[in-house]
Amino acid sequence: MSVGADSTFDTVLVVDFGAQYAQLIARRVREAHVHSEIVPSTMPVEEMLAKKPKAIILSGGPSSVYAEGAPNVGAELFETGVPTFGICYGFQAMTRALGGTVAKTDLSEFGRTELRVTGADSLLFTGLPDEQPVWMSHGDSVIEAPAGFRAVATTAGAPVAAFEDTDRRLFGVQFHPEVLHSEHGQEVLRRFLYEGAGCRPTWTMLNIVDEQVARVREQIGDKSVICALSGGVDSAVAGALVQRAVGDQLTCVFVDHGLLRKGEAEQVEKDFVAITGARLKVVDAEERFLSALAGVTDPEEKRKIIGREFIRVFEQAAREVVADGGDGNEVEFLVQGTLYPDVVESGGGTGTANIKSHHNVGGLPEDLQFTLVEPLRELFKDEVRKVGEELGLPPEMVWRQPFPGPGLGIRIIGEVTRDRLEILREADAIAREELSHAGLDRDIWQCPVVLLADVRSVGVQGDGRTYGHPVVLRPVSSEDAMTADWSRVPYEVLAKISNRITNEVREINRVALDVTSKPPGTIEWE
Ligand code: XMP
Repeated sequence: MSVGADSTFDTVLVVDFGAQYAQLIARRVREAHVHSEIVPSTMPVEEMLAKKPKAIILSGGPSSVYAEGAPNVGAELFETGVPTFGICYGFQAMTRALGGTVAKTDLSEFGRTELRVTGADSLLFTGLPDEQPVWMSHGDSVIEAPAGFRAVATTAGAPVAAFEDTDRRLFGVQFHPEVLHSEHGQEVLRRFLYEGAGCRPTWTMLNIVDEQVARVREQIGDKSVICALSGGVDSAVAGALVQRAVGDQLTCVFVDHGLLRKGEAEQVEKDFVAITGARLKVVDAEERFLSALAGVTDPEEKRKIIGREFIRVFEQAAREVVADGGDGNEVEFLVQGTLYPDVVESGGGTGTANIKSHHNVGGLPEDLQFTLVEPLRELFKDEVRKVGEELGLPPEMVWRQPFPGPGLGIRIIGEVTRDRLEILREADAIAREELSHAGLDRDIWQCPVVLLADVRSVGVQGDGRTYGHPVVLRPVSSEDAMTADWSRVPYEVLAKISNRITNEVREINRVALDVTSKPPGTIEWE
């Protein structure tokens, strides 16, 4: 997308020092309605300048500035006249490059820390409280600001916790303004962007759609592309976006693996097609998936099987799309609704462990024949929803709860069978209906209903003793699924759900509530 002085929006470069922070900073910049682009810290300064940035942000990083191989920043970056904001590692790298002092103090700070603003009328903190909680993660500290800078905040472990040089328009903070635990962090960032760098708040979701549409068009050219619709928000938005970019070069394939929730297959088969005009091929593969899953109880094995079958069915569907006529081109590309948190959790970010093989990233077979198109890879869930709204998808689709690709298959603890799926589907539909009815859809991130299929307990229903299964309700609130807390759903709503499930689903005689945050629990049980 063209960027320049005459552009309707300004661009901020977020220099990535190799941790997870750069994406979150980029997201916060977007939230301030400014366009951001992440660039590696190895990019030469001239190349950065060629992008005509209105501002530069140096992100946090995992390492000490003294660590061997720590990414370096030369002083030339600060002589360009482009307003620059150093965060955490970026703050320390900036200090060193400009002749200040970074040293080990005895007090490392990790987590919530009290920040005291010391600089009267500082540009970064004007209008904000003198004492504020911030999120820290550092061993080394800046003990002396470089010449020309004014120290404007301090903490117990960081003598200089923020500094600024308003003449040269250079700023820095030791804490992480991008995380929500830094209560006024977003405001500090906004003050840098608007007051420090003069950025205009003109970047919108519409721009994001245009940018992604242009990128997808460029990647796919005149080739054919296939999209895996899962029934979830991510694949629906990714599909709608690619449809907008390349129209009929796209064929959507919906593999009904029999692990979906009640009503979801219909939503894809009817609503999605009606709204986007996309060409859709439905493959009924329930039998195939259930046979492949027969006797399997291990969750990772289930995921691998589902992922593998999924791709096999796709490859077959792709061959059929070509044989059907389509546009006659070999299908080269496969759209995936991978989001940024999926990339991180599957170990795709730098320095993160493989927590779980999300089947839309980690579990693809090695002989995969497609090149992936992942237009949502840099976005977080709530941003994807906004993109979906911008593309005209209806609220029921855009505001659906996140649902894992392997579907109800991983919400049955124990072997997956048709009967068990039927039981869980009914219970899940009741929980969703009651939560929606209570107006809680937008407060609750998602509420998996988990069937403990191998557990039975004694109960009494009607006149008789029962020996039924429990289900667990797992309502959570979250911003991006990377961390979550259990939702305080009103007792009356829980009572209604519990009553209805035990009355309407014969095989279930107990409803339990999960009150664990993430971490230590994950959202799904598996
Ligand atoms: P966990 O259980 O890891 O889940 O806390 C985090 C979020 O990811 C969803 N999830 C998945 N989404 N494919 C997906 O597209 C998957 O394999 C998958 N596994 C978990 C989960 O529902 C939650 O929103």
